[in-house]
Amino acid sequence: MRAESASALAEARARTNGVLDPLSDADLVEQHSPLMSPLVWDLAHIAHYEELWLLRTLSGAEATDPRFDDVYDAFKHPRAERTTLDLLAVGPARAFAGAVRERVLGRDLTPQPDPHVEALLTDDFVYGMVARHEHQHIETMLATLQLMTEGGPTAAGDGPGRPSAIARGPAIELLIPAGPFVMGTDTDLWSYDNERPAHAVDLPAFFIDRTPATNGQFAAFVDGGGYDNPDHWSTDGWKWRQEAALSAPQFWDHTADRWTRRRFGRIEPLPLLEPVQHICWYEADAFARAAGKRLPTEAEWEKAASWDPGAGIGMKQSRPWGNSEAESPAALWGSTARWGPDEVGAHPDGASPFGGLDLLGGVWEWTASDFTPYPRFRSFPYREYSEVFFGPDYKVLRGGSWATHPVAVSTTFRNWDYPIRRHIFSGVRCARDA
Ligand code: AVJ
Ligand code: FE
Repeated sequence: MRAESASALAEARARTNGVLDPLSDADLVEQHSPLMSPLVWDLAHIAHYEELWLLRTLSGAEATDPRFDDVYDAFKHPRAERTTLDLLAVGPARAFAGAVRERVLGRDLTPQPDPHVEALLTDDFVYGMVARHEHQHIETMLATLQLMTEGGPTAAGDGPGRPSAIARGPAIELLIPAGPFVMGTDTDLWSYDNERPAHAVDLPAFFIDRTPATNGQFAAFVDGGGYDNPDHWSTDGWKWRQEAALSAPQFWDHTADRWTRRRFGRIEPLPLLEPVQHICWYEADAFARAAGKRLPTEAEWEKAASWDPGAGIGMKQSRPWGNSEAESPAALWGSTARWGPDEVGAHPDGASPFGGLDLLGGVWEWTASDFTPYPRFRSFPYREYSEVFFGPDYKVLRGGSWATHPVAVSTTFRNWDYPIRRHIFSGVRCARDA
C-alpha cells in the first residue's frame, strides 16, 4: 500500500471517530429517521466493506463472521428495517472496525496471484475505494445527525476564520461557449467506473450561474408564492409538492416574521448568503423555472467546472482550480469544523477557468440529468456500486458538499439520489440556453 493510501485510510477513520465519539451509545443504536440506518450499522458496514475488499478479496482471508455478509450488505435490507437486524452493539462494532484496520495495516497478508486482484491493486485503486467509501458513509452519518431534532454535535458553530461572501445581489451568469469538451476521466486514479471512459461531448453555448442559489434568493422564491404556483413545477414535481405538503426547504421554519432553520439541533436565523441546502430535485427545478432558467445538465456542469479552454483539447481539471485538492484555500472544504457551507463566493481562489465558484465544497448541486452510463461503460469492480442504479429513477448531483471529504470528490464525480430526497446537503445552481 502506498503512503497516500495509508494516510487516506487514517484520515477517514479519524473523521469517523470525530463524528461518532461525541454521541451516546443510545444515539448510535437508535434509528433517527426511517430514511437512515442506525449509526452503529454504518460503522460496522464500513468495517465489513474494508474486510471484504482489503482482506478477503485481496488476500483470501477468512471473514470475521459470515453472518455479517447478510446483515451489513446494503442491498439485503432496506435502511428502514436495519434496527430489527442482529447488529453488533456499539463496543463490538468499534472493536470490529479497529481489528480489521489493524490487519490491513499489519501487512501480514499477501495479495493473491489473480488478474482481478491485480486490477484492484493498480494505482492502489482498491485502497482508494475503501477510503472513499468510508468518507461517503461519514457524509451519510452527518445527514443522519442533521435529522436528529436534538443532541446534534455540540461543536456546531461557525468555526474560526469563516470567510464571507463576495457575491451579493442577483446571481452573476457565466457564458460557456459552444464546443466540445472531454467528459469523464481515464486518468484520475481513484475515479469510479461511472466516471469512465472519458469521451468528447459537444455542447451548444449556455449560461450558468457563477454561484449556487443562496438562502436569501430561495426565501424570495418561497415568500413570492413559489410553492403555490403550479406553473413553476413539473407535473411530477407539483404532484409531490402536494402529496408531501412541501412549503419550504427541509429544516426551515417561519416564526415571528422571519425564517429560521434547524442545523444539527440548533435553531438559528436563516443565513441569507449561504447556499440553500436540503431541497429536493423538484424544488430545485421549480426554483430554476421561476427564475426563467433551468437546471444544468451534468455535462454542462462538468464543462463549467473542469474545462480549461485556453489549454487545448483534452485539458480538464480534476478540481475547478487545478489538478490537486490542495492548491487552493478552497481545499478547506471537507472540514466538519464548520458544520455547514461557507457563504457563496467566499472562495474566489477556488474558481474554475470559466470563473465558476463553489463548484466543490459548498452543496451538492442537482442537475437535469438521469443517472445513466457513459458510452462504453464497463462495471468495475462490482455492479452494485453504480450499474444497478442506472436508469430514470435517479437524478445526478454534482459538486460535493461541505460534508464531502476532498479525497472523495472531483469535477468528474457523479452522485445520485431520488428526486424527492432532501435530507442530503443538496442545493441548486441555475443555467439557461444562450
Ligand atoms: C454514491 C452516495 C449514492 O451512499 O448510496 C456507499 C455511495 N456506495 N456505499 C450511497 C455508497 C456504497 C452511494 N452514493
Ligand atoms: Fe456502503
